[in-house]
Amino acid sequence: MTMPDELLYNPFAPGYFNDPYAQYKVLRDEDPVHQHPLGFWFVSRHDDVAALLRAGLSVEVRNLAPGEFRDQVVPEEGRGALDLSMLDRDPPDHTRLRSLVTKVFTRRRVAALRPRIEQLVDAALDRMAEKGDCDLVEELAFPLPFAVISEMLGIPEGDHARIRELSGTLVRSLEIVADDETVNAIAAADAELTAIAADLVEWKRGNPGEDLLTDLVQAEHEGQVLDRDELVAQVVLLYVAGHETTVNLIANGVNALLRNPDQLAALRDRPELEANAVEEFLRYDSPVQQTRRVTTEPFTLRDKEIPAGSFVIACLGSANRDERFYGSDADQLRLDRPEARHQVSFGAGPHHCLGAALARLEGEVAIGRLVRRFPDLGFAGALEWNGRINLHGPATFPVTVHSA
Ligand code: HEM
Repeated sequence: MTMPDELLYNPFAPGYFNDPYAQYKVLRDEDPVHQHPLGFWFVSRHDDVAALLRAGLSVEVRNLAPGEFRDQVVPEEGRGALDLSMLDRDPPDHTRLRSLVTKVFTRRRVAALRPRIEQLVDAALDRMAEKGDCDLVEELAFPLPFAVISEMLGIPEGDHARIRELSGTLVRSLEIVADDETVNAIAAADAELTAIAADLVEWKRGNPGEDLLTDLVQAEHEGQVLDRDELVAQVVLLYVAGHETTVNLIANGVNALLRNPDQLAALRDRPELEANAVEEFLRYDSPVQQTRRVTTEPFTLRDKEIPAGSFVIACLGSANRDERFYGSDADQLRLDRPEARHQVSFGAGPHHCLGAALARLEGEVAIGRLVRRFPDLGFAGALEWNGRINLHGPATFPVTVHSA
């Protein structure tokens, strides 16, 4: 897809990744329910995004009206694993798959992970201390959530490097604008990741453990409630969603702190701020910027009627900066902001993120321990953005952890 000139929303504009929020503000002010010339709709105010997500619209792209846009977002052969995941399914399939995973992905299971997460964080901080100057993404923000979800699922280490590479490609499918080369790379990554997950599921049958994958495999056996392909698809979803998002919470959060030294000092002085600080990091520079819905009948938002068969982007990153909801200082980082807990970074309604408690726990432990361990934490060079429109965060983030 190519972008026409003179657009209200253009993620290919220079400087976009550094500050997508400037474009969001124009959209919120000038056309909060915006029909883009490429055909999709873009919703940018807080209350509209929340209402849209709670309305229980479809998430299945096969419901798009026939036309050029549909042809571009729905490849002929579908999207493999992700198409079968709960993220892309409507009721009754969504309800069935989600309740099955919820049964094994419990709050208690997540809360019990705290000591292990603390251990992983401390080991990462030790390695950083030895290095002095290092890349925060490579040392902490990526390996922590990746190790946690790998261990939760019970996935052997041998597969990690390739899975990391493949899932980095696969998540581009969460963006609507992609060239043919990227579309083909996504399809290949999807097929390979699905095959790896299918092998793992088979292997797990013979090697059960105290892990999530074992429980999911057993659930399949006992309840006959999901077929093999569906099981594999939920595993791929959990693996990818489990790390490609939290990496941005940690890295974007630390970036925000280093750019706001008064808030960094406040967090060090007042550890009781930690939980609210994580809500504010999620709000201020959202790890997942967008999610999407498909209308199956006309849907009215403000003064606009969105026709049936439309592709609608709910812009979480913009909703989280809406001054109508958060006040005139919405563009500032304020760790004690009470409304931060109303951020919509995990979505809302029937598809609300299943991993929110885990992500919050990892963010709180990682950032809290990092800032307390290194009083001289600072930038060691320019941060480089990952170039993703949706899963927005740094690719590399050079930091120094020793005094100059
Ligand atoms: C769904 C954000 C971490 C598992 C979602 C959605 C968002 C989101 C925006 C879609 C909501 C919608 O369309 O309404 C995030 C963010 C995270 C994070 C910002 C980290 C900071 C995780 C983790 C896991 C996870 C750690 C699991 C280990 C899921 C699953 C769904 C989901 C399974 C699909 C739920 C459904 O369709 O019913 N997440 N997520 N997420 N997330 Fe997360």
